[in-house]
Amino acid sequence: MQFNGKEHLVWSLNNYLGLANHPEVREADAKAAADYGMAYPMGARMMSGNSIHHEELENNLAEFVGKADAFLLNYGYQGMVSIIDSLVDRNDVIVYDGESHACIIDGLRMHMGKRFVYQHNDMESCEKQLERATRLAEQTGGGILLITEGVFGMSGAQGKLKEVVELKKKFNFRLLVDDAHGFGTMGKTGAGTHEEQDCIDGVDVYFATFAKSMAGIGAFVAGDKEVIDYLRYNMRSQIFAKALPMPMVLGLKKRFELLKSKPELREKLWKIANQLQTGLKERGFNIGVTNTMVTPVFLQGDLYEATTLTKDLRENYGIFCSIVIYPVIPKGLILLRLIPTAAHSSEDVERTLAAYSEMGEKLKSGYYKENKMAVA
Ligand SMILES: Cc1ncc(COP(=O)(O)O)c(C=O)c1O
Repeated sequence: MQFNGKEHLVWSLNNYLGLANHPEVREADAKAAADYGMAYPMGARMMSGNSIHHEELENNLAEFVGKADAFLLNYGYQGMVSIIDSLVDRNDVIVYDGESHACIIDGLRMHMGKRFVYQHNDMESCEKQLERATRLAEQTGGGILLITEGVFGMSGAQGKLKEVVELKKKFNFRLLVDDAHGFGTMGKTGAGTHEEQDCIDGVDVYFATFAKSMAGIGAFVAGDKEVIDYLRYNMRSQIFAKALPMPMVLGLKKRFELLKSKPELREKLWKIANQLQTGLKERGFNIGVTNTMVTPVFLQGDLYEATTLTKDLRENYGIFCSIVIYPVIPKGLILLRLIPTAAHSSEDVERTLAAYSEMGEKLKSGYYKENKMAVA
């Protein structure tokens, strides 16, 4: 990436499989823009905005993630808000993971009925909330929707999908999974975290965005035919909005074709992720509980140190990585979240590890605190 006119090695791009600059993707994007322009289609899907390409992409996505049908969404964030809004009414009860993404939380805000939060990935807490939800649903006559994620994007922890699905033996609920980070990266074929954990059928409604492994815009939701048809005609974010533009749909078709036919891209991503995570651990860095490619590095320091060390990495080592600080994480902690991709090389990882070692030593020595002008 160019930053202030200088080349930087970046660890903060949503491009897991390195498709963004793949020559076939660039060519497909350019050709589709030349063929259609950016304007088509010029209506919502239900009105004049449908095309065989939209439908073909939906059918292929559904098959790939092991569901009967799929529906394209213009954006992941607003899609999830609208899915939640459509699936439940005031009699239904939602049970959800405490570290859910903002799009899930904002979807919950639309819900007129009750919701119960369980502690992040804590199955005991989840069971307790399902008990409460069951008691309430018996009174209201509604159903229960449990919402969690396939891969939590900040910590890199997988949602415990298989264990949640097991709870269906005890409780009557349906499961909605946001697999924004797992689609294309997790599982034997890259179908997602439900494939990785061998519980494809237990996930009733599967959601993923194109913004991560597909390096695109838009998202999709997949599930049983009746559920997807219901969403097709009830999701306000789609009914009352223009469909995804043709160049994006055609570009997504190409990305998806490569995602399916080039397992070497996923293998490369995991090679880079493993090299990076092993190297960081060997150097004594705390990478938390990640069991996916998302690589958080937790450091101790205040806000000044966080911004100064980021600037040091960027200006003096040519390494760009976004930081996360309080209130997203507790005060006194700094989180550098690295997103490995298939576009990184082993040399990139070695260069980053060497820079992180020096940065870590400097942080420990108080360099970023005391020598305030050192990297200014
Ligand atoms: C877990 C999760 N869900 C949904 C989204 C939103 O997706 P989009 O960028 O397609 O709106 C994101 C993106 O940050 C995400 O990480």
